[in-house]
Amino acid sequence: MDINMNQEYFPHFSDVRSLVKTLQPNYPVYCVRPKFIQQTAENFISQFAGTVMYAVKCNPHPLVLNALSSGGIKQFDVASQSEIAQIFNTYRTSPHFMHPVKNREAIRIAYFKYGVRYYAVDHLDELEKIVQEIGTDPNVVIVTRVKTPESDSCLYHLAKKFGAEPEEAAKLMQTTEKYGLKAGITFHVGSQCTDPKLYGKALNIVGEVLDYANIEPTCVDVGGGFPAAYPGTKVAPLEKYMLEIKNGLDRINLASSVQILAEPGRALVASGCSLIVQVLLRKSNQLYINDGIFGALSELLDSETVLLSQLIRPDDSVSDELEEFSICGVTCDSTDMIPCNFKLPKDVREGDWIEIDQVGAYSNALSTRFNGFYSKSFACVYDEPMSVCSSKNKNKNKNNFSRQKNKLKQIKEMKEICI
Ligand SMILES: Cc1ncc(COP(=O)(O)O)c(C=O)c1O
Repeated sequence: MDINMNQEYFPHFSDVRSLVKTLQPNYPVYCVRPKFIQQTAENFISQFAGTVMYAVKCNPHPLVLNALSSGGIKQFDVASQSEIAQIFNTYRTSPHFMHPVKNREAIRIAYFKYGVRYYAVDHLDELEKIVQEIGTDPNVVIVTRVKTPESDSCLYHLAKKFGAEPEEAAKLMQTTEKYGLKAGITFHVGSQCTDPKLYGKALNIVGEVLDYANIEPTCVDVGGGFPAAYPGTKVAPLEKYMLEIKNGLDRINLASSVQILAEPGRALVASGCSLIVQVLLRKSNQLYINDGIFGALSELLDSETVLLSQLIRPDDSVSDELEEFSICGVTCDSTDMIPCNFKLPKDVREGDWIEIDQVGAYSNALSTRFNGFYSKSFACVYDEPMSVCSSKNKNKNKNNFSRQKNKLKQIKEMKEICI
């Protein structure tokens, strides 16, 4: 895909119904709501007292990036050489290379070709690797990632894989300064964090590291983790997260020159994109759809996330009565079953379309080509997302998935056995 393609390249529709009527797609279509994403970015930026970088890995699609850019996002957190190239070629800015483990060529290309100056590390060998590859430019900022405790309030923990223990983090920052480089500090509380206090606790750890290292950092980066308001999830308002961060930073008492950064992914884009799928077959109350766990819906497998759905039939002749349907994904794999039921009109049939809400985060970004299925169809739509309509109680043909806890447990166990 040409990453420079602009918005005009994609079809635009006033709403998802007109998209379905016009395209009648027999392939899954991601419906991006640029205005909604733009407003979400504006809102986040207006509340965060620092620079908001977008975590590109969450959804790197050009429509999403452009909407965020229109909303004021000008800095990006990237994980790989190809994300660096995408951001630099599109926005002529050097992103922050925040993956704590990088290959040597990527480091060289990031520095010499794309002018990247911020690099995350969580181990001395990674710091030395960077110094060996690019030398000791005093404009380079080595951002040490410190471990924060795992919490049940996050859906995905990152601390098992990344982050130096506080004492080790302090030593890394000292070594960074000994090399003549600038030292920054970062953490990631875990994705879909529903407890704002975790940011305050993480900032207390940052304070301890800075005291121990006796260093005034160049930047403090509070990472990502901010939640999306999925149905059934208790999500505190963004203001509470910002207050925790503000109070946490005040406790550390940083110089005014210290840059404050955040790297949200999910919170900026999850609700700004839905997915249209088509029913391929109905067997009693089991529906086979044309996407699934190996495609846009992989997050549903690991998490307890529930999403809103609605049936779309262009002639609108659908029953008012709802029933529960289990959903099978498109591949031949037996794990490709959505671990929650959809409540849909009881006369749902082959050929109907279903819109699934809030799939903007870690959907297309994680999609595989398993069994030869892969959707690259994107369109812009301008109606309100279902999650917004539902909070206003507008649409009756729309329901929460009901979670099949046992099925979820079984699938998790199967996955563990396979691994
Ligand atoms: C370094 C880093 N920053 C930011 C993010 C974005 O996190 P989230 O989507 O939870 O906001 C991630 C996600 O894995 C990450 O690894």
